[in-house]
Amino acid sequence: MSSENWIDISNFLGLKKGEMTDFDYQDKKIMIANINGDFFASDRVCTHAYVDLTGGFLNESEKTVTCPLHLSSFDMKSGNALNLPAEDPLQVYKIKREKNKLFILI
Ligand code: FES
Repeated sequence: MSSENWIDISNFLGLKKGEMTDFDYQDKKIMIANINGDFFASDRVCTHAYVDLTGGFLNESEKTVTCPLHLSSFDMKSGNALNLPAEDPLQVYKIKREKNKLFILI
């Protein structure tokens, strides 16, 4: 049996387009982003060094987040690192929206 759970994060529905915020769940440091009205979630610690990506830059047209320290960008859909120095992908999480509820699969 899977240990994955859909967690209710409806409290983030008020996040505005182009914004991201942090969400801690157990030992996970996650970020939730609103990109053009769609919600995305990934780990928020850069895979290059210990930097919080919510202090970085969200690009809504590219659907990427850019690290504030060495400017590696990550694809918010796949988590892939798009340019050096980061090479490892960010863990991404599925999000689903049902009526006025928002859930993340952890
Ligand atoms: S800490 Fe993020 S690219 Fe270096």
